[in-house]
Amino acid sequence: MRLRSLSSLRKILLMMVAICLPIMAFLEVSNGQERKIEALYLDLDKKYRMPEQWHVLPFELEDPYKRIKNGPPLTNVITKANVEWISRWIANPKKVVPNAKMPNLGLDFEEIKAVIAFLSSLKEKELSAITWDAFLLKKEDDLSEDEYDKMDKIYNNGKGVWGRARCTICHPIKGVGGNVGVGPDLGEITTKINRNWLYDWLGNTKSHFSDTMMAQFRFNDSDLRGIVEFVMRDTQFIPEEKDEEEGESKEAKQPEPEVQILTEKEFNNIRKDTALIEKGKGIVEKSRCFVCHDIKGFSELMPVVEKKRDGLAGFEKLLYEIRCLSCHRIQNKGGTYAPNLTIAGSKIKMSWENSFLQAPDIIRPLSQQMPKFNLTEEDAKVATEYIEKNLHTKDSLPDIFEGSSPSPDVIAAGEKLFYEKGCNTCHAEGAKGGGVVGPNLQTVGERLQPAYLLYHLRNPQQANPQAVEPNFGFSDEELKSLVGFLADHVTKKEGNK
Ligand code: HEC
Ligand code: HEC
Ligand code: HEC
Ligand code: HEC
Repeated sequence: MRLRSLSSLRKILLMMVAICLPIMAFLEVSNGQERKIEALYLDLDKKYRMPEQWHVLPFELEDPYKRIKNGPPLTNVITKANVEWISRWIANPKKVVPNAKMPNLGLDFEEIKAVIAFLSSLKEKELSAITWDAFLLKKEDDLSEDEYDKMDKIYNNGKGVWGRARCTICHPIKGVGGNVGVGPDLGEITTKINRNWLYDWLGNTKSHFSDTMMAQFRFNDSDLRGIVEFVMRDTQFIPEEKDEEEGESKEAKQPEPEVQILTEKEFNNIRKDTALIEKGKGIVEKSRCFVCHDIKGFSELMPVVEKKRDGLAGFEKLLYEIRCLSCHRIQNKGGTYAPNLTIAGSKIKMSWENSFLQAPDIIRPLSQQMPKFNLTEEDAKVATEYIEKNLHTKDSLPDIFEGSSPSPDVIAAGEKLFYEKGCNTCHAEGAKGGGVVGPNLQTVGERLQPAYLLYHLRNPQQANPQAVEPNFGFSDEELKSLVGFLADHVTKKEGNK
């Protein structure tokens, strides 16, 4: 008892020292420095600090993470997923998709049959018919050489679109990827969907699921055909074959209980069975499927709250279509995967942002990359104007170099510091290359405003609590020269592209 309280007292003492030391160090540093800049720092902290500085926004932001029903609407599910897949899914979702969110509802095969008959009776519309060249519907082995080459060209085009669209930041494949944490695993997606559905989903995403967190990419017909060919044919979307040679692990495993699967043929015999459909409806009601799914006929139990989205315009429309807040955060809404945009207008230079939105390049090579949504010039204009007008600090930021450019002396001193402190172990810079832990700083002067550079370098954790960049405790003069050096990193500079 005594020993323990003694040690916790020691912990408290140690903590106090740990808290006081940096404060003391800070006071010591700032005492010896010019007053002028120091006041500016304190002021900067206040200006950049959230949420005291949030603006009232012109419309209420919709948080895609707060949608009412987490599951997709089931009205036309029968045109999306094949019945064999649906029967395996309802029997045990986690066994079908590793990151499934739907619980196992413990239905037996007879119940599942009835539920599927009911779900198929809900269908409101067929998928729009899409014409495919006949050879694209053949299996790979049945293609002639000429057909194979043609197919391969479309496939490779699709592979490129898939890569630039960064589908894997939301969707894991067989358990790998999906850092945003919102998309289903696509590792066996070819056992579920068909090419017509996929084409329509990617081209008209919101018409299938108006609350979806997936972006409505602006794909053209050729992009769509490419990506469909890629997804329907690439082995990463097909279940892995069970390795017969691994004899030992097979023996060690208990044989899994067989799940009975509803075949297409059996389904065709029962789909019009009205008694079974009625039974299925009863099971759906008892199982409370409608808590998570929009299902016709249950609106009196869980009123469908229809969101009005027809009249959306400007940035509100863009936010809805692209679902920027699946990844970004604005004020207290949205995800945390991508940079917080609440004060983006006081951090980022709008000329840079405009071109970035239309053609995102890679800033943070290792961790996060923004997908290429094919935003138009008009989209980019709408976004930058909104950000510039609404997402900035309330008070204007100081002009650190007082209207002129940083002097060559300041820049040279900053460059020296940059290498002395080893910034280049994490950051690449100009022609000299460097590390890839942090963003590439080659054109950082075009991307970030000087006041934000100052704010970031003074205390990286205050600017971004997750930042791994150390706080170097720079003096005011050092900070000013580093900012001067970085602000000078623009495209026109020699050595930059
Ligand atoms: C607790 C919420 C919840 C309940 C209850 C629930 N589901 Fe789901 N369901 C989901 C979610 C979430 C998904 C999306 C896939 C996933 O799990 O990530 C889903 C997916 C599905 C799908 C695939 C739909 C598609 O478009 O891919 C079907 C079919 C389905 N559910 C049927 C049912 C049926 C039938 C019931 C009732 C017997 C039911 N669900 C009950 C949450 C639920
Ligand atoms: C912003 C994250 C995000 C990105 C990027 C994204 N998706 Fe999705 N996708 C989702 C979510 C989330 C769903 C499930 C619907 C929902 O819950 O909103 C989904 C559903 C799907 C489905 C249906 C899967 C199923 O089992 O029902 C397919 C197929 C799909 N996406 C393909 C793609 C492709 C191809 C790309 C790249 C072009 C892509 N997605 C990019 C988030 C994303
Ligand atoms: C699928 C996730 C995702 C979606 C959706 C998304 N972004 Fe991004 N965005 C990112 C990531 C990741 C980065 C960081 C890129 C990098 O560092 O290379 C980023 C970077 C940015 C930046 C630069 C921020 C900075 O501090 O460097 C802006 C501005 C931006 N996005 C705006 C938008 C807008 C506007 C939308 C909607 C039209 C949008 N994003 C949709 C993932 C996304
Ligand atoms: C241990 C690795 C590491 C070191 C050392 C490091 N940084 Fe960073 N730095 C990072 C990471 C990681 C980020 C990205 C943080 C983020 O995504 O907001 C970053 C971000 C930045 C940014 C951009 C901030 C933004 O929001 O885009 C600048 C500018 C920067 N660092 C400058 C420097 C300078 C100057 C030095 C040397 C004094 C330095 N860094 C040292 C890892 C490092």
